[in-house]
Amino acid sequence: MATLKILTAGDPFLRKIAQPVERIDKKLLRLIKDMQETMYEADGVGLAAPQIGISKRLVVIDVGEENGGSFVLINPEIIKKEGSVVSGEGCLSVPDFEGDVERAEYIECEFTSPNGKRLLLQAHGLLAVCIQHECDHLEGILFIDKAQSLSRKEAKDDTIEKFAAKQKHKRGRK
Ligand code: NI
Repeated sequence: MATLKILTAGDPFLRKIAQPVERIDKKLLRLIKDMQETMYEADGVGLAAPQIGISKRLVVIDVGEENGGSFVLINPEIIKKEGSVVSGEGCLSVPDFEGDVERAEYIECEFTSPNGKRLLLQAHGLLAVCIQHECDHLEGILFIDKAQSLSRKEAKDDTIEKFAAKQKHKRGRK
């Protein structure tokens, strides 16, 4: 397994529409594992293949047991959206900012699982928000396009010293 480099906002690749996954083979399963490892390493709750420079309609998610658990979504398609909720979002491709985004509160999403089954996922709350955020990546859309407000993450509670230490830590990473 390996961690992969995450592209950040400004990279034109993040604006491309991703291609459907045609085949679930060993190579794809390895990519899924690498994406999961990359997401955990970066403390993220979701990662879409375009974020690591791969034009495939593939998403990994882990919002924690209490919020619905972990999913691998191949060729996901949101077929139903209901209600609305505004919540704070961040993105591994926009590391320094967070913002409030309005999303559907409930969604139904069709997707193919790694064992090739086409399934339907019904999701509320954080899981629903996360799926919508990740599916946007497949269309070349970032949360900053939809955010009602944006703020620098560090402005909230971190001191300048903490910020500097964090930047140093980031530079130290592979
Ligand atoms: Ni994101």
